[in-house]
Amino acid sequence: MRGLDGKISVIAGAAPGNIGASTAHRLSSEGAHIVVADLSQTAAEAVAEEIRANGGKAVATSVDLSVEESVRDMVEFAKEEFGGVDHLFNVAADLSPGTIGLDSTNDILSLPVEVWKRTIDVTLTGYMYGIRYAMPVMFERGGGAIVNTMSAAVWKAEAIRAAYASAKLGVEALTRHAAKVGGRRGVRCNAVAPGTVLTEALLRTLPEENRMEQAAQIPSTRLGKPEDIAAAVAFLFSEDGEWINGQTLAVDGGFTMH
Ligand SMILES: NC(=O)c1ccc[n+]([C@@H]2O[C@H](COP(=O)([O-])OP(=O)(O)OC[C@H]3O[C@@H](n4cnc5c(N)ncnc54)[C@H](O)[C@@H]3O)[C@@H](O)[C@H]2O)c1
Repeated sequence: MRGLDGKISVIAGAAPGNIGASTAHRLSSEGAHIVVADLSQTAAEAVAEEIRANGGKAVATSVDLSVEESVRDMVEFAKEEFGGVDHLFNVAADLSPGTIGLDSTNDILSLPVEVWKRTIDVTLTGYMYGIRYAMPVMFERGGGAIVNTMSAAVWKAEAIRAAYASAKLGVEALTRHAAKVGGRRGVRCNAVAPGTVLTEALLRTLPEENRMEQAAQIPSTRLGKPEDIAAAVAFLFSEDGEWINGQTLAVDGGFTMH
């Protein structure tokens, strides 16, 4: 894809086998320099090591998206290590049993408020911090691109996952707002909305029966792979996507088509 070579991409939420890691690898294969960030320093370092082993340029840092100073430090780290930020991929989410697990087994009448707050803090407020700190750096460099991660599932009403859906739909509004703020100054902001993507974690935990059920619901031959999302993000960051701004791109095999 055009215009990715030599760019500096910050991936906020990358651990081996997940969507962030796959995107980091894809952008590296296009010549970008990668800042791998995750709540787990060990996970971020493992992804950066994989990239370096493949001949790419990558550094790792820990970040907690729910903590403003931590997000500011992630952007500072990118500036110190590579001289700036051209791309930000906001992709983290708290998918731990204590957060998405409880969100997935409760409705709004019973959901613990702490789960609601944690979900909003990481997925919505955290993405806002990333934009707030990275966008001015992109302005200084004459432009850049941001991609936020939505979820195709939340367009379909569910009687569970109230916090996740509210945070992710908030991400759509944030994306359009950021596109308005940045567009005239060369910073685009879009979102990707994945359908079910078989990350290494899901391959381990989602029973074959559930996978078949989900696959039967989409007009495609298979469920998603992390590489499907990585390709969409690389496109949105690239010059090939330079007239796309403020959009949410469903990458879901047609699951949400209507
Ligand atoms: N996999 C799917 O089927 C699917 C479907 C729709 C949307 N999504 C979205 O795609 C994104 C990536 O999903 P994934 O399946 O790769 O998930 P994942 O859990 O493998 O990756 C999320 C990463 O975020 C990190 N993280 C959690 N809390 C954090 C925090 N406070 N600060 C920084 N990092 C934190 C985790 O350590 C993890 O590495 C998420 O936003 C998810 O909601 C995934």
